[in-house]
Amino acid sequence: MAHVICYYTGTGNSLWAARTLASAVGGTDLASIPASRKENKTIPQSSTVGLVFPVHIWGLPRTVRNFLGTVAESKPEYCYAVAVNAGQVSNTLVQLRRELREKGSDLSSGFALVMPSNYIPWGGPGSKEKQEARFAAARSKLSAIAETIRKKEVRPVEKGPLWQRVLFTGIYDMSYPRVPEMDKSFRADEKCNQCGICVRVCPADNITLPDGKPVWNRRCEQCFACLQWCPREAIQYGKKTPGYERYRHPEVTLKDMIGD
Ligand SMILES: Cc1cc2nc3c(=O)[nH]c(=O)nc-3n(C[C@H](O)[C@H](O)[C@H](O)COP(=O)(O)O)c2cc1C
Ligand code: SF4
Ligand code: SF4
Repeated sequence: MAHVICYYTGTGNSLWAARTLASAVGGTDLASIPASRKENKTIPQSSTVGLVFPVHIWGLPRTVRNFLGTVAESKPEYCYAVAVNAGQVSNTLVQLRRELREKGSDLSSGFALVMPSNYIPWGGPGSKEKQEARFAAARSKLSAIAETIRKKEVRPVEKGPLWQRVLFTGIYDMSYPRVPEMDKSFRADEKCNQCGICVRVCPADNITLPDGKPVWNRRCEQCFACLQWCPREAIQYGKKTPGYERYRHPEVTLKDMIGD
């Protein structure tokens, strides 16, 4: 296989971006990063490796960081990334390039793709019109990215303004060690019918149902898949979320997330 896109997603935006890119470029395989990590899979020797993932707290999610050794081992001739975000890519792609270089690899091109926000503690994803506008802009940017990838062009990585990179990188560095424990704010309310979907969508195997109801086990990656995919909107985070709209990419199904 000449081209593999490795993706990570909480609410489907990055999966949709990965699929859209794969079909625009052609001859491309898709691989889920959490599934590859759980199964200890290596990346088949590919000349081109793409990484498509959400920006979390102005930087790389843990799952993606922990996967970079596997990427470097596959010795890609051309490695690119699409950092899917809600408007603040900040230093994420610079961080990715640095961490790949430390592992003896490199990032040839890095793109920021703005999609609706799934960070529910700060409100919902915006009106349907605003979401549609972001999807349309993302579709057209992905066509341009596909062209760059086909030609294997080397481009400067996209990044936010300097103030954002300085301030938010500091917040990322402080928050990162505490992310696994941030699940203290999750709870399941009385609407939970013990269906177990939250357990199955969690990429970190962080949720168990000891007495039928979910318990979070301090290995969280803050992807918000559990809360956003719960069919009964029974999962809350802090006090505000009962009133907030849930978000999942409209073209991504639960089957796409859990595989059956
Ligand atoms: C914990 C968390 C932190 C986030 N931090 C950022 C951020 O720093 N900058 C940003 O633009 N978007 C941020 N987002 C929004 C997501 O990057 C964005 O909604 C993305 O499209 C989600 O992709 P997914 O559906 O593939 O998970 C954050 C989302 C979550 C859940
Ligand atoms: S997905 Fe929702 S309803 Fe199903 S077990 Fe989890 S919290 Fe309960
Ligand atoms: S517990 Fe929820 S937010 Fe944390 S990693 Fe699992 S699905 Fe994501």
